[in-house]
Amino acid sequence: MKLQIINGPNLNLIGQREKSIYGVMSFDDYLHYLLKKYSALSIDYFQSNIEGEIIDKIQEVGYSSDGIILNAAAYTHTSVGIADAVRAIETPVIEVHISNTKSREDYRHKSFISPHVKGIIQGFGLLSYELAIISFLDRIKDE
Ligand code: DQA
Repeated sequence: MKLQIINGPNLNLIGQREKSIYGVMSFDDYLHYLLKKYSALSIDYFQSNIEGEIIDKIQEVGYSSDGIILNAAAYTHTSVGIADAVRAIETPVIEVHISNTKSREDYRHKSFISPHVKGIIQGFGLLSYELAIISFLDRIKDE
């Protein structure tokens, strides 16, 4: 099974950034844990602070991957372009967030992406990503 994790802006700073919200572990360390634990899967990782690069990556993998785990970060709340890319592709997308955006500022309550995804997992810290992997595994099992 081929999965793609896509992280949006400022998620390269996880571990240093607002630790009380996002925790102390770097995403690289967490990715290392995921790749080891799910070594039977092919998991690719992409992070960009640039909206167009995220759209390019969604288009690139959106017809070949079995699943996309997308944390568009701040673009979640602003980007019609990323939402349109998610609508355009065939690969199912799970939207993830480290924090529970619904318990935060009002401007984080709106997601342009949510209406077009298979499911949303948020508020479980970095575990949100692993829960998304598990849900893709479960989906294959049921098919
Ligand atoms: C985030 C939540 C967003 O509101 C925020 O802009 C982020 C991270 C999360 O994972 O909790 O950068 O997507």
